[in-house]
Amino acid sequence: MASSNKSAELFARAQNVLPGGVSRNTIFRLPHPLYADFAKGCYITDIDGIARLDFANNMASLIHGHAHPVVTQAIIEQVQKGSAYTLGTELEVQYAELLCDRVPSFERLRFVNSGTEAVMAMIKTARAFTQKAKIAKVEGAYHGAYDYAEVSQTAKPTNWGKEDCPNAVPVAVGTPEGALDDVIIIPYNDPESALKILDQHKHEIAGILLDPVSHRVGMVPATNDFVEALYSWSRQYNALLMFDEVITFRAAYGGAQASYAVKPDLTALGKMIGGGFPVGAIAGRKEVMEVLNPMQKAVPLPHSGTFSANPVTMIAGLTSMQLFDEEAVKTLNQLGDYTRSEITNLIMNKGIKACVTGAGSMFRIHLKEVAPNNYRQTFADPIEATALKRLVKALEEQKIIMINTGSGMLSSVMDKNSIDVLINALSLVFDLILNEYPSLKRSPDHA
Ligand SMILES: Cc1ncc(COP(=O)(O)O)c(C=O)c1O
Repeated sequence: MASSNKSAELFARAQNVLPGGVSRNTIFRLPHPLYADFAKGCYITDIDGIARLDFANNMASLIHGHAHPVVTQAIIEQVQKGSAYTLGTELEVQYAELLCDRVPSFERLRFVNSGTEAVMAMIKTARAFTQKAKIAKVEGAYHGAYDYAEVSQTAKPTNWGKEDCPNAVPVAVGTPEGALDDVIIIPYNDPESALKILDQHKHEIAGILLDPVSHRVGMVPATNDFVEALYSWSRQYNALLMFDEVITFRAAYGGAQASYAVKPDLTALGKMIGGGFPVGAIAGRKEVMEVLNPMQKAVPLPHSGTFSANPVTMIAGLTSMQLFDEEAVKTLNQLGDYTRSEITNLIMNKGIKACVTGAGSMFRIHLKEVAPNNYRQTFADPIEATALKRLVKALEEQKIIMINTGSGMLSSVMDKNSIDVLINALSLVFDLILNEYPSLKRSPDHA
């Protein structure tokens, strides 16, 4: 008999071979994950034949949606010439030239295979250059799975300590104590407290790691004051400023860093620059990146990677970034402004305790009356957390795929009609949430 729910059946099989039935927790959901059959443009069709409008875009990595014809054609042509060689290619040179032309702080660049790897290589580059071991990072920020980069990413009220002096909290059981000791946690957008904390470790810090619009910290841009304070401190104490632009590179033609007067020494990239394939990169000041140069007698940071700069990723990324030119970035960011303003209007009309944050083509819905400004304010209380889960699930039932934090990432194949589809679905979903969670009704004075 034909199955009416192939995804449920596949999940049952998957649990026999994959822990929890998944290869990455991102896609895990109950009663079962969704399994893709095919995707085109801004829609994904699952193996049960249901098509959904995709605002997750593989966790912000698909800037042109799925199977863009120009990117697809370029990949096919490359694959026929081979997919990986123990030789360099002109493609990696051409792609590095394009990225370096685009961003003033990129004087040298090296490709790797994921955002996690890019952040790891960036931290190791900073250590090798400064000959110091510690790093500082913002509480709650996600930078991938390197032991050091993930410290305090999941801190919670029971273990996060004082607001102006947060604890270094491990994510994984068994994280070495040494990793915790070597990561200094600073609060977001609070230059005064951050500098006080940094001052206690002035001679030990190799670099300060910052995502300028961190998703987990609330998707609120870092203030100029905050970035400039960190930059000035780093100049004073021979430390580097390291930006994680794995997601935020989409925010402007030259990345989110284009909005600040000061420039990072190093930047980690990933996601969108792979054109739909696994990728990462570190880029930055020539003098700093020189620690990777194998032409030295004693290389301070020997670095390789079997699939780094593989030609399939290179052609997909290069073609995607050529298409994501200044005009395309501007158009997509205008759609981002439209999305955030339409969601805000809907929130006001419905009288729900919610708000939307974001920048460029990124947005995040919070079930909070006032927009958060840091990780602790973003952290959802138990009611908000369950209501948000419900919101994401209800949107899925309305044939909209979101990132499970209530965030969305636009792609260049979307237009105002796509946003109107989202708003219509969200209107029904807000009604449902207000019905199930009456405490989320705005009081009349704030309506
Ligand atoms: C800001 C940021 N940095 C690093 C990473 C890690 O990237 P990857 O999943 O490619 O390892 C992510 C992934 O979501 C990210 O959002």
